[in-house]
Amino acid sequence: MENLNQEIAIVTCALPYSNGEPHLGHLASTYLPADILVRFLRMIGKKVFFISGSDDYGTPILISAEKEGKKPEEYIKKWWKVWQEDLEKVSIKFDFYGHTYSDYHNQLAQYFFKKIKENGFIYEKEIEQFYCPKCKRFLPDRYVIGTCPYCGARNQYGDVCEICGRTYSPLELKDPRCAICGSKPIIKKSKHYFFKLSSFSEKLREWLISNKNLQNEVKNYVLAWIKEGLKDWDISRDIEWGVPIPNENKKVLYGWFENHIGYISFFLELAKQLNLNGKEIWNKATIYHFIGKDIVYHHYLFLPAERMAEGSFKLPDFIPTRGYLLLEDQKFSKSRNWYISIKDFVSKFDSDYLRYYLASIVSYSQQDSNFKWKDFESKINNELISIIANFIHRVLTFAWNNFEGKIPKPKEFDSLDKNFEKEIQQFRQKYLKTMNSLHFDKALKQIVEFASKCNQYFQTKKPWETKDPNSIYLGFKASLEISLALYPFIPNKIEKLWEIFNLDIPKENAYSLNFKIENHSIKKPKIIFEKIDPKLVENEINKLRKIKKENMKEISIDEFRKIEMKVGKVLEVEEIPGSKNLYKLIVDFGNEKRQVISGLKKYYKPEDLKNKKFVFVTNLERKKFMGYESQAMILAAEDSKGNVILIVPEKDVEVGSKIL
Ligand code: MF3
Ligand code: ZN
Repeated sequence: MENLNQEIAIVTCALPYSNGEPHLGHLASTYLPADILVRFLRMIGKKVFFISGSDDYGTPILISAEKEGKKPEEYIKKWWKVWQEDLEKVSIKFDFYGHTYSDYHNQLAQYFFKKIKENGFIYEKEIEQFYCPKCKRFLPDRYVIGTCPYCGARNQYGDVCEICGRTYSPLELKDPRCAICGSKPIIKKSKHYFFKLSSFSEKLREWLISNKNLQNEVKNYVLAWIKEGLKDWDISRDIEWGVPIPNENKKVLYGWFENHIGYISFFLELAKQLNLNGKEIWNKATIYHFIGKDIVYHHYLFLPAERMAEGSFKLPDFIPTRGYLLLEDQKFSKSRNWYISIKDFVSKFDSDYLRYYLASIVSYSQQDSNFKWKDFESKINNELISIIANFIHRVLTFAWNNFEGKIPKPKEFDSLDKNFEKEIQQFRQKYLKTMNSLHFDKALKQIVEFASKCNQYFQTKKPWETKDPNSIYLGFKASLEISLALYPFIPNKIEKLWEIFNLDIPKENAYSLNFKIENHSIKKPKIIFEKIDPKLVENEINKLRKIKKENMKEISIDEFRKIEMKVGKVLEVEEIPGSKNLYKLIVDFGNEKRQVISGLKKYYKPEDLKNKKFVFVTNLERKKFMGYESQAMILAAEDSKGNVILIVPEKDVEVGSKIL
């Protein structure tokens, strides 16, 4: 077997579900930052394995496949291909892009299951499950729909309510129905397997605290979850699509138990193909798992706990976690058409421009970023092109026109030159440090700042008047430095630039090279960075305006049905200390009491409200106001003068009555 002597990094991206195409949100939070790191690490001489693949199992995929009348095996292949093709359009290519639906993955996932069971961290328990007598199958997770037990929203899946966001067990659903045929399920006993997540609380805590590479903000709330107490976790499902549980019939592992094992199984498969000792490499590599913030729970708790329970595979060093991407201030939503796919974007605009823009707005944090078309245009035209590309272009054309296409030999440096040479060196040091800390947006800022300094230097030296060779010599040196720094961000453009530089720059270990640029001949400069046409951007903005109008026009009856309103009686009214507007109400809805925070203080006295009945929306997302959670919203009319008038039932009515 071959020996790798370089330092090794294994970089993975969250495995996308085989259930839809990649859009700019995926790219911004996970795939682009990972690719930038991979390219950077290679440039500084690390050996990198870049791994991802499709997350093929789980009930949503099975249901989508059934809807299309396809076998799941067929259905997932399509998306496996689409993801790779679309990501390649933005220059992202993995060394291995696996399938969790594969022998190599099934085997490793089954090995994990067996080993963890042997080690005493998996136990069996009989539980009650919904079963559809008509379809003759168990109804896990998404196979059952009903009314949310917490907020009362209708048509919710068996595992999570999309209205209030809470998770529950399917049996808690009210009014359950089979998602496939609509019939009423019966309850049947079934043996399930549980992972003793609870026994890892202390070890997880220690690991989180001792691992200095993890982001503090993420760590803190994961630690808070641990403090609240971790529950053991049902890791089996009674369906046939998934990793089969050894020695069982029609039972598979829950997707979130096995999908992240794909990081390892895919890597080991690649290593096998390369004739390398995969496990040994895994355990000595620096491991990065790039994710979006929606899957923190799984990656900071399930994943490390399972590796601890198995015992022989290294835990991640980094789990870089980034926030969501908004589109013009609103969440991406495929169903509302508020959405840009990668494929669509690159059919109209340069893919490197997309990479540049996204990298510049996404920070290494959980904060959401905002894609704005105008901002995109201005970042490219006024920053990347006007500041960075223009400088490089000026140097090149000047060398071409005045020094016969050669980088001139410098004369003795004056103090400006000396200063500038130092700036170039300092820039490299700062840039390398920032990149190593994974703050790619900050690194881009440093590049822009450095390019501004380059422009200033040029402006002061005025080579077009002085024909000063030093400024061309140093200008080229600086351009080269900028190009190396920008390569991880906009690799295509930079490769084209390197052709004009006429330098053969390797994508691995380029930073170790010493380029001799004195008397070096370049090729004839041409425009590589074309400005974005504002008209094209205007088109896109108009399209979004139209969509917004359409979305606002009307809501469907189904959407309206999701809003639940009830009559409630105010039992108590309390002032909230420090608030001019807010009252804390305790409201009786018959079967439960809820706390409602409401801005009525200016309009009503407590005694006007107490013991009276009003109308409330009872399935709104729960929000905190000044630290108090509001569990419903009171309905009121507002007149043209801004007076607020509460709405009361016309006759006395039982509390908890629904408004239809
Ligand atoms: N498929 C999951 C999602 O899109 C991510 C799985 S990442 C894994 O949310 F590594 F855990 F597989
Ligand atoms: Zn059914």
